[in-house]
This record gives sequence, structure tokens and C-alpha cells, in this order.
Amino acid sequence: MKTAITEMFGIEHPIIQGGMHYVGFAELAAAVSNAGGLGIITGLTQRTPELLAKEIARCHDMTDKPFGVNLTFLPTFSAPPYPEYIAAIREGGIKIVETAGRSPEQYMPALKAAGIKVIHKCTSVRHSLKAEQIGCDAVSVDGFECGGHPGEDDMPNMILLPRAAEELKIPFVASGGMADARSLVAALALGAAGMNMGTRFIATKEAPVHDNVKQALVAATELDTRLVMRALRNTERVLKNKGVDRLIEIEREKGRSLKIEDIHNEVAGVYPKVMIDGEMDAGAWSCGMVVGLITDVPTVKELIDRIMADAERIIRDRLTGFLDAEDKATLKVA
Ligand SMILES: Cc1cc2nc3c(=O)[nH]c(=O)nc-3n(C[C@H](O)[C@H](O)[C@H](O)COP(=O)(O)O)c2cc1C
Repeated sequence: MKTAITEMFGIEHPIIQGGMHYVGFAELAAAVSNAGGLGIITGLTQRTPELLAKEIARCHDMTDKPFGVNLTFLPTFSAPPYPEYIAAIREGGIKIVETAGRSPEQYMPALKAAGIKVIHKCTSVRHSLKAEQIGCDAVSVDGFECGGHPGEDDMPNMILLPRAAEELKIPFVASGGMADARSLVAALALGAAGMNMGTRFIATKEAPVHDNVKQALVAATELDTRLVMRALRNTERVLKNKGVDRLIEIEREKGRSLKIEDIHNEVAGVYPKVMIDGEMDAGAWSCGMVVGLITDVPTVKELIDRIMADAERIIRDRLTGFLDAEDKATLKVA
């Protein structure tokens, strides 16, 4: 399939694996890129720019296809050394960066000077337009369904994607709630040029996370995610577990006076406990509503091949089938 996104990033299929803390290691990124999608290493999971440089080198050893790096700009007082991370990205020969969180404006000159294509992930039309205006090459439009941070507008993709299509000149992919061929074809119909998946890629053989995480995703339904940290205007969609139940209880007690320190135990340092040690009740970790559509743990290649084959069937048979049926009905009437 050829779209503005496959052309821009030099990939075979319009499928991107979004950056994921403690999931987006070289193994997953390389598997996605080798399967014809765009794999992304999560920059800040590597604690230093030197470690990121090593992770990029590891990924180059596993694939000769294009892959990218995610840079998440966090609302934090002690910002990571972003210029050094960007230097590691540039020196690692990376040509695609997925930015997320705050606007990447401050870092655009450095990224563009290195010939890097920037796809900014954001949750609203206004932020997408801002990304376009500051020179981003593409946008990943992340709807309310998404795992991670859906923003504060609560706008689902059924509305957000066509609105983005009405306003944007640069290409965009649909992100949030994407799981299979149906998602891809729907995203294309709504104006996107591809899709970005997070949660679905965790339940794959190559995702370098504890098997408990994959089994939890297979077992969960679309009713099992929760929104936390609303009162802090840092809303995150997470998988319900005992730690999240505790967190929600604290949020109920504290109401609007909630401070990040109140929920420190339920949100800080949770990712390695969950992803490496498989402690599923450790606290809040991102997971999308799309978990309700995950019923197996295929290889990344099986997943991507299945999506592309089914997408072709949906377009050629199901969709054009409606038109053919109409043609036949018209003929009969005539
Ligand atoms: C476990 C997990 C960790 C994530 N970590 C990050 C991150 O560090 N930076 C980022 O930009 N997005 C992060 N995301 C968001 C994904 O890149 C992607 O935008 C999102 O998962 C899309 O929604 P979906 O889960 O419905 O596919 C994370 C998502 C998950 C599920």
C-alpha cells in the first residue's frame, strides 16, 4: 500500500509503532521495521544519551530498514538533556523522530539541520496545526481512546481524525484505538495516511516485556482501562490493577487538592516493575481501550502481514462489494 506516510518514511506499510516507555527497545523497533512498518525506539527509556546511542547501534545491527526514535517532552522541572539526546540521534544516523508531550518547537532547528523528519504526536487539531506551522513533517493524531496521555479534550478519533483532515496540509496517521485491518481502513477513510499503534504491539512475541504483561492484555476487555491524574491535568489512560485502584481511591479522597506526591508510590518507578518483573499490580502503566480487541500474541510480522492482507480484502471485497451490489441493483431496475 502506498500513502503519503509510506513515501515520506520510505516504508512498505503505513503502520507505525509509537514510542513506549520500557517497551520500545531495539528488539521491538527492529521487528516492526523488518516487517515493513516503522519501528520506534523510546529515547527516554534510555537513562542517558550514551545509552540511547548504544540502543540505536543495537537496532542498526538488527535491521537495515528505516527506524525512528521517540523524544517525549515531559512536563518536568528537571528536564532530561534533550540537546545531548538529539546529538545521539543525529550521530546514530536516525532520520525520523517521533516527538510527543510538549511542542518540539525549541528543538526543531537542531532536528531539521540534521535532515531529520519529525512526526509530532498530539491530541488536538490546534496542536496538530501548531506542529504543521513549526515545520513538522507529519502528525500522529492521538484520540481519546489511546493508551498513555489522551490530553484533556476527550475527543475520540471518529471526530478528531476528520477534523484533522479538514485542517491539516501535512499528512497524518491515526493513533489510539488502532488494532487491525478494520482500524487501518477506517483511519484511511477518515483522512489519515496510516496508523500508529501502541498497546497492540506490546502483545507480540518480539515485544521485550514480561509474559505477564502480554497475558494481561489478552485477558483484559475494553472496559478495563481507567483515566488517572485528571486533577493534575496530566491525564493518563492505564490498565486497571490493584495499584490503580489504590490510586483512584487517593484521587477520590483528595479531590482537587491532589498533588503528584500523594500518588508517588502508584506512579513512580512502575514501568520496570511491570515490564521487566511482571508485577501486574505495581501501579499505573499506559494501556489503550484497544486492549478489548487483543486476543492473541502473534509475531510482529504475522500481525502486520495479517493487517495488510485483511485491509486489502476489506477494501476490495467488502467496500467495493457495496458499490458492485448497487450497480447490479441499478441494472436490475433499468
Ligand atoms: C505502555 C505504553 C507506554 C507508552 N509510552 C509512551 C512514551 O514514553 N512516549 C510517547 O510519546 N508515547 C507513549 N505511549 C503512547 C503510544 O506511543 C501511542 O501513542 C499510544 O499507545 C496509541 O494508542 P493505543 O495504545 O490505543 O494504540 C505509550 C503507550 C503505552 C501503551
